[in-house]
Amino acid sequence: MNDLKDIKILKFDTLSSTNLYLKDNYPHLDDKTVVVANHQTAGRGRLGRTWIDSDDLLFSILLKNNLNEKVSSLSLLICASLFKTLKRYFNDVKIKWPNDILVNNKKILGILLEAITNSKIDCVIIGIGINVNNRNFTDDLIMKATSFSLETNKSFNKDTLLNEVLNDFFHEYDLYIYDKSDYLNICKENSWLINKIVTIKADGIRKTAIVKDILNNGNILLSVDSHDLELNYGEVTLEEVYK
Ligand code: BTN
Repeated sequence: MNDLKDIKILKFDTLSSTNLYLKDNYPHLDDKTVVVANHQTAGRGRLGRTWIDSDDLLFSILLKNNLNEKVSSLSLLICASLFKTLKRYFNDVKIKWPNDILVNNKKILGILLEAITNSKIDCVIIGIGINVNNRNFTDDLIMKATSFSLETNKSFNKDTLLNEVLNDFFHEYDLYIYDKSDYLNICKENSWLINKIVTIKADGIRKTAIVKDILNNGNILLSVDSHDLELNYGEVTLEEVYK
């Protein structure tokens, strides 16, 4: 395992959002700085959604290494490293492309990946929200979301879990920099989405498609109207997923 002695971890009780903190402060922070908050007042999810927390693990990782050509597959790497951590706790763990991990078919964590670009990528901010001790999901989430505590009837120390997640991530990230990570196989073998029938909305048009593969560049390969179609997560909304 890696150790975290070279990693700067900034801990706050309350922030608006750990991703926003890094966006505002990245020019004077080191590569691999991690920001953790106990609570966020304006936690952000994908697609402009808000991320409501309750005794969860909320943190963001700043990467300032020159990631230009690698950034497209970074979300797969993050999913693979989180998968490895969660597999030590749960049997049924699946990666739901592009950015979620499911335990027993319910979302246990979400990832918000943001890149700050000028003419090139200045930095990447990886925001991760893990449902740890939250046992009270709202009615609209209770069927779709779960937490460490709900799955096990125990409560968890968030600092211990953070150390494990970061150790796994930075270990996998070091391998990835030297093209030695097996992240793509992990994502394919443990994909929740491959072979599922989905409704997609691309270019304003709704269509039914079958998910065929996850590609090394982070894109998804679909079969639509008997043709292959490769899309990235910015180009497609998975509206519904059928078994
Ligand atoms: C999603 O599933 O939509 C992604 C959720 C990401 C939430 C995390 S919590 C820590 C970090 N700070 C934020 O404002 N968002 C991410």
